[in-house]
Amino acid sequence: MSAPTGRVLVVGGGAMATGIAARLAAAGIETVVLVRRAEAAAATRDEIARRVGRLVAIGEASPGPAPTSAPGPAPTSAPSPSPSPSPAERSGICATVLVGEAPGPFALAVESIAEDVEAKRVALAWAEALVADDGIVATNTSSLRLADLADGLARPERFAGWHWFNPAELVPLVEVTGGPLTAPDTLERLASLSRAIGKQPITLRRDHTGFVANRLQYALLREAYALVEEGVCGVEDVDRAVVSGLGARWAAIGPFAAMDAAGLDVHEAVAEQLFPQLSRSTEVPALLRRVRRSGATGMKGGRGLLGDYPPGAAQEVAARRDALLALLAGAGRGAGA
Ligand SMILES: NC(=O)c1ccc[n+]([C@@H]2O[C@H](COP(=O)([O-])OP(=O)(O)OC[C@H]3O[C@@H](n4cnc5c(N)ncnc54)[C@H](O)[C@@H]3O)[C@@H](O)[C@H]2O)c1
Repeated sequence: MSAPTGRVLVVGGGAMATGIAARLAAAGIETVVLVRRAEAAAATRDEIARRVGRLVAIGEASPGPAPTSAPGPAPTSAPSPSPSPSPAERSGICATVLVGEAPGPFALAVESIAEDVEAKRVALAWAEALVADDGIVATNTSSLRLADLADGLARPERFAGWHWFNPAELVPLVEVTGGPLTAPDTLERLASLSRAIGKQPITLRRDHTGFVANRLQYALLREAYALVEEGVCGVEDVDRAVVSGLGARWAAIGPFAAMDAAGLDVHEAVAEQLFPQLSRSTEVPALLRRVRRSGATGMKGGRGLLGDYPPGAAQEVAARRDALLALLAGAGRGAGA
């Protein structure tokens, strides 16, 4: 099944939309990004260029002539003048940022606006009118049911979930998922496009709240909170166990492969001991509720589960994470992944 070919529309100008646009543009796809407010256009374009620059720097982009501009209204922002061109500028890779309207048709429209069902329904119906008859409309929702979002679409068989991970241009995984009326070939085409732009897709067999990766993450978090609340270890110890142990291993092989490597007889014996003892709580953890009641919002507010964060801490953590993701991307290419 072939990937959709042609221009792609990304709706939204936030963290995820700029990463998605950067990845598409870096793969040589003509990408148009639609934002609501003219004031947001320049910042959106700069952010896409920053992310493209990062992909160029780690060899995850194919520099070449800039893709042809979409017909219609001129881009609302020009590249910022700079004495020495950035890696993104030198590569000639860019996405076109438009405000309020974009001339169709597009082969694919990706909605990545705020996680609000009504706002998304409006954006999706509107995006559907801009895609070609055989085009695909996709949503990057993290938690909303596709059946609810498909309500009101004229061609629900061409509608699918395409769930990326932050930072979208760097994390290889995307989850492809369909609603009740999605045609199988829509999922196959989206998975095919994902591979064509260097992503590693998994396709879910049915719409499932939280998809796969977030369910796994929250299952681990439930046990992490239980360990801390029972006084077994501190929050720093949990983070250390994941970063230095599980995470380091899982970057190379997944949990099922790790069990195959360990031996299924051993795995079965440990499962008999441990599974009955793991947390089965269905409540939001008391620790999280306590920390939230104190007003903490995490790094963005200067205080979180791990205590106080000085100004700049969030940027420092993001830079450390992104540097490692870039290294892993290189290692993946080296391994032929
Ligand atoms: N942040 C993540 O880690 C992550 C990961 C996967 C998926 N997602 C999903 O991606 C989507 C976007 O998340 P984000 O983190 O980029 O958010 P964000 O707040 O960074 O960006 C949201 C963007 O949507 C725009 N917007 C809001 N309401 C709109 C409307 N009614 N019409 C048009 N534009 C509108 C905002 O101006 C902003 O540019 C959400 O559905 C979110 O659940 C987020």
